[in-house]
Amino acid sequence: MSDGARHDHLSTDDFARADLEKQIAALDHQSGLAGIPRLRAWSLAVLGLKPGERVLDIGSGTGEHARLLAEAVGETGEAIGLDPNEGMRAEAARRAPRAKFVPGTAYDLPFPDGSLDVVTCERLFQHLEDPDRATREIARVLRPGGRVAITDTDWGTAIIHPGDPDIAAVVTEAMRGGIANPFAARRLAGHVKRAGLVVDDIGSQALVQSPSAATGPLVRMLGRMAVDRGMIDAEGCAQFLADLAVAAESGDFHMSVTMFAVLAHR
Ligand SMILES: C[S@@+](CC[C@H](N)C(=O)[O-])C[C@H]1O[C@@H](n2cnc3c(N)ncnc32)[C@H](O)[C@@H]1O
Repeated sequence: MSDGARHDHLSTDDFARADLEKQIAALDHQSGLAGIPRLRAWSLAVLGLKPGERVLDIGSGTGEHARLLAEAVGETGEAIGLDPNEGMRAEAARRAPRAKFVPGTAYDLPFPDGSLDVVTCERLFQHLEDPDRATREIARVLRPGGRVAITDTDWGTAIIHPGDPDIAAVVTEAMRGGIANPFAARRLAGHVKRAGLVVDDIGSQALVQSPSAATGPLVRMLGRMAVDRGMIDAEGCAQFLADLAVAAESGDFHMSVTMFAVLAHR
């Protein structure tokens, strides 16, 4: 490692670990909101996994979904999580010891044509620059009659209440910055159809934040981003944050974003 990669006695490995811990904490925070377990339970019920089936979770992250898939297919089945991030795969293997985790990318799945009964992905498509390529890969690896559940967030559905609606619009727009595919979820059915799959159902759940989010780091960071980009001034931002804090005290605070799950078959 070059000296340039060191900073205050922390190595790039230290930074990578800190970044991984932050990503895991963010995923765990979201999974702790009621909407994610509800949407997972619904999509698993519609998928109707059977013992003995072979199922792949793409972008498996912390492995929480793969753990549920492994339970559903039992000892005779196989649940595989795929993720390019080695640190995530290690965390997933710890949380879901009955699943298997492999490296790879959604764009080039390391499985033969028609070799899987079920494919799932959750909160992956928002990170993909070429979602149609990923759905073509899913269609390729599914056996005829195989099922898929693709679940993602649509950041265009974000709501923050109360406060000046113009500032709320700017702050929710700031939320979309840096996300490769922020409107991923509304486009899922189109991707799936273009890949030659048949859409069976679309479910949704809003991820509703608790009142403590009104004064939490996410809201403050979004406000800062909006100011840094010149979208609002510092005074307007401070007033907006103060309005949210007052509202949280009185119970009139709402912050949410909606997730959609598209269920389809080949
Ligand atoms: C937001 S996390 C979601 C993790 C997990 N599916 C969940 O919902 O808890 C996105 C995951 O997708 C992985 N990922 C990013 N790009 C990918 C790609 N091209 N192919 C497969 N996985 C990818 C990341 O490493 C990360 O673990």
